[in-house]
Amino acid sequence: MGEESLFAKEDRYLAPVYQKYPVAAVRGEGAKIWDADGREYIDFMGGYGVAIVGHCNPYVVEAVKNQASKLITCHGSLYNDTRADFLEALASISPEGLTKIYLGNSGAEAVECAIKLARKATGRREIIATSGAFHGKTVGALSITWNPKYRSPFEPLLADVKFVPYGDEQKAYDAASDKTAAIFVEPIQGESGVHPAPEGYLEALRKIADEKGCLLIFDEIQSGLARTGKMWAHQHTSAKPDIMCVAKGIGGGLPLSAVIASEDVMSAFNPGDHTSTFGGNPLSCAAGLATLRYLKDYDLVKRAECLGNKMMKGLERLREEHRVVREVRGRGLMLALELRFDVKNILFSALKKGVILLYSGKNVLRFLPPLVISEEEVKRGLMVLDDLLAEEDRVRLQS
Ligand SMILES: Cc1ncc(COP(=O)(O)O)c(C=O)c1O
Repeated sequence: MGEESLFAKEDRYLAPVYQKYPVAAVRGEGAKIWDADGREYIDFMGGYGVAIVGHCNPYVVEAVKNQASKLITCHGSLYNDTRADFLEALASISPEGLTKIYLGNSGAEAVECAIKLARKATGRREIIATSGAFHGKTVGALSITWNPKYRSPFEPLLADVKFVPYGDEQKAYDAASDKTAAIFVEPIQGESGVHPAPEGYLEALRKIADEKGCLLIFDEIQSGLARTGKMWAHQHTSAKPDIMCVAKGIGGGLPLSAVIASEDVMSAFNPGDHTSTFGGNPLSCAAGLATLRYLKDYDLVKRAECLGNKMMKGLERLREEHRVVREVRGRGLMLALELRFDVKNILFSALKKGVILLYSGKNVLRFLPPLVISEEEVKRGLMVLDDLLAEEDRVRLQS
């Protein structure tokens, strides 16, 4: 099927909820994608940060094939060998003291679970979230997601949610009380344009949570799993969470998410409190186990750090050379370039030059490439961006 007829078919039937790029991806390998007409793209979007170990990672493909021929579904009420191995592997890379895991299928589901767990474990109702926060779009997760564009058409959402400015510890202190169940925070905000927590902020939230008797929840759905050059982005600081949410890349591309908590906190849940038909299915767990093995065998934490530093330097150079660039932000391979103008032209022009970019709001280009991307692919992508920024400089800033 050619691209045009494929676009038409998908548009006819799919709910109109996605901002579509005019690309029909039919094949992927590492950091590359090919469209229906055989054109090759370098993928800086990385499936919105999912393709951490690369598209069609060989460990994942092999594990999925094997598991698919053995057992695909197995409800959580039965035990399963692959699930047990995956849980053990995930616990072994989890922050110290967090050893109990709930398995779900998406980021928003992990957040729903964390909200319920925090409420049950503390007996309190209120959640504190931050300006710019993105935690997903199901009703509970949306209630602690900040952008009014996502929230207002669906109100009323959960009551008892307070938003405080991201990075302002005093405001968080003032907002927290003996009614607060949890403070929810992304160690690096992704959706709002890649904003790392200011120095000392996460540690301050830890102290506030301890003083006010509430839980501290880190949403590492986008920032976690080696992306920023540490296994978890909060490990760039000394702060430790009570609960951590993980999703995106953990299933090597298959739907899989996890809520990881201490034994004490997770013991608030009783059988029946929070279950999911597909949660922890053997196929996703096999992919997850293969993903964790690959991460370790190829030391993707180190790779994200080294390549991220190089890419950051490349982006800094673009900032120095192009007046349309306002700022460069991020850590490891979670990076952003903020422009003075709308990035839409750049996104579409980049596609024509074989590069898939991602945005965050109107003015920000966000980079969440697979951590297996080669240095040469990064260079090629940045060269394309260099040309496009030069064109933007010329058109937008003619003096
Ligand atoms: C930090 C964060 N939390 C939660 C989510 C929601 O994840 P999902 O789209 O899998 O529901 C996302 C998705 O981008 C995210 O970046």
